[in-house]
Amino acid sequence: MRVQIGTRVSILAAGIFLAQVAVAQSRTEQSSAGQSPTAVLQIQADHAIANVSPTLYGLMTEEINHSYDGGIYAELIRNRAMQKVSWRGLDDWILQQDGNAEAAMALDTTTGPSTALSRSMKLTVKQADASNLARVRNDGYWGIPLQPQTTYQSSLYAKADKNSNGPVTVSLINNNTGAVVATTQIAALTTEWKPYSFVLKTGAMQASAANHFILSVAQPGTFWFDLISLFPPTYKNTVNGNRIDLMEKLAAMHPAFLRLPGGNYLEGNHISDRLHWKQTLGPLVDRPTHTGPWGYPSSDGLGLLEYLRWCEDLHMQPVLAVYAGYSLAGEHVTPGKDLAPYVQSALDEIEYVTGSVQTKWGAERAKDGHPAPFPLTYVEVGNEDEFDKSSSYDARFAQFFDAIRKADPNLKIIATDPVTSRVPDVIDEHFYKSAEEFLQAAHQYDQTNRKGPKIFVGEWATMEGTPTPDFGAALSDAAWMTGLERNSDIVIMASYAPLLVNVNPQAMQWTPDLIGYDALHSYGSPSYYAQVMFSSNLGTQVVDSSLQNPGTHLYYSVTRDTAKGMLYLKVVNASAQLREMNIQIQGAQTIGINATLTVLRGQSLAETNSIADPERIVPMKTELPNISANFNYTLDPYSIQVLAIPYR
Ligand code: AHR
Repeated sequence: MRVQIGTRVSILAAGIFLAQVAVAQSRTEQSSAGQSPTAVLQIQADHAIANVSPTLYGLMTEEINHSYDGGIYAELIRNRAMQKVSWRGLDDWILQQDGNAEAAMALDTTTGPSTALSRSMKLTVKQADASNLARVRNDGYWGIPLQPQTTYQSSLYAKADKNSNGPVTVSLINNNTGAVVATTQIAALTTEWKPYSFVLKTGAMQASAANHFILSVAQPGTFWFDLISLFPPTYKNTVNGNRIDLMEKLAAMHPAFLRLPGGNYLEGNHISDRLHWKQTLGPLVDRPTHTGPWGYPSSDGLGLLEYLRWCEDLHMQPVLAVYAGYSLAGEHVTPGKDLAPYVQSALDEIEYVTGSVQTKWGAERAKDGHPAPFPLTYVEVGNEDEFDKSSSYDARFAQFFDAIRKADPNLKIIATDPVTSRVPDVIDEHFYKSAEEFLQAAHQYDQTNRKGPKIFVGEWATMEGTPTPDFGAALSDAAWMTGLERNSDIVIMASYAPLLVNVNPQAMQWTPDLIGYDALHSYGSPSYYAQVMFSSNLGTQVVDSSLQNPGTHLYYSVTRDTAKGMLYLKVVNASAQLREMNIQIQGAQTIGINATLTVLRGQSLAETNSIADPERIVPMKTELPNISANFNYTLDPYSIQVLAIPYR
């Protein structure tokens, strides 16, 4: 039997259908000249050749492109802890003197609410009254997104030069109209640092990011503020939690793990800037913040426990990356006694994740609000240590390996570069390639020696499209993923990188990135949807199969899940030609009638999704009635197809 493009038209609007028929016709004409012979895919449904790794698809994360601050971490106030200062003074805070108010705003390095936050904003008001306010304004991360009828949790630390100095008015204001969208008052401050918490509630309004946050005072005096915070509702209503739309997009990927944190963020530019995980724990007022490697500081509001909760929320296991004594400016810690404290820090970190409440760090985790230990199987030692030109990684790895193995022999240890001193359980390999290179690499693991360490493709991406991958990138990403699936007995984990990008040009350091967003909206790139399709249709075993007459740029993988009685076929036609495919399924007693076809297709390689057009390219799912053990199937040019076929 033959399955035609027309089988999915029932779900298309009539106008789109007409356009697609036209496109299909012109492509048929194009392709008829150099028609490739029918490709024949033979599937031996009763014969598995390998297991699919249950952890194959996961997420890699780091603070880059405002992935956390201004990204998934839901905090809306930028530079809340006054850590970012330039020649202008305090960044992201603007002094406003209404009418004849007179005031000055400055960083005060002599006082703060805690040892960790030992500096603050000082607002000196010489003259102000109810009609002439002195104010400080924050525009958030390229706007403060507000929704109608919504409650925002806000808080700050403050003190004043005399008792009962106040009130301080806290408001959310629309940038365009000046309308007060929500407001409340702190009645009075004291001369001691104190925390204040309050809510700001919006009423009827249009959802918008054109808003700012403002603190106003109506009398002379000196005021100090710090840790000024504003949170919208978060995913699962977690305090200090994550942005809902981004978490939902990640959940749809069904990720099995979170590499936390991956990338340069773990290492920092200098050893002193490495990720000090211990300084990311506990109350926010006890987190000193730190300098990240991507040109902006990190609030560390998303710290180690928040990473672990993120795992818990999305049912992922953590892949814990520990700092291994190399930082990006080429600095390394000499193996031996100099490295010992860093190794101990890694052991402490593992204990924080997995230790019972009887252990020192397990008790700390309980104190932070999570008595139950987290599951942990994989620990990664460093990141991209091939860049360490001192060649110290082998010895550094050995020191970490021995200590971790001794502490917990069950943990699997990942090396970031080949080593000879020890045999790592897993090697992390990174690939950033052009579309053409990734198409060529789709078979690179077919011949890999199965005796060696398992492989974690901890970072990979087709480097085409900006700020997020275009459809051409999605095609080669999908072709590459067919190779990961076919070889997932040896490639046990893979994660695209970078995962997230705030698309404001000043926010982005790296392109392309899988998921884009601004303050109010988010969207998945075509590559994101390819990953959703692949991870949502993944069997537990690789099925014996072969492809004859592949022609050019045709890629596939076949997996099965015998418990569910499902066969999953992925076929990527990365050519501009329509392709005919004959699919022969042997070794199945019955082929179910409720097969489904999901197609991701672009009109051109450059076509893409964006904030303005977030669903231009999305998967289209249809029923495929009456599939048999031998059927013909027409593959659209430039298309990614997933067939889910019930069988026994
Ligand atoms: O993913 C962006 C960067 O690429 C990562 O931080 C680093 O590991 C790699 O070089």
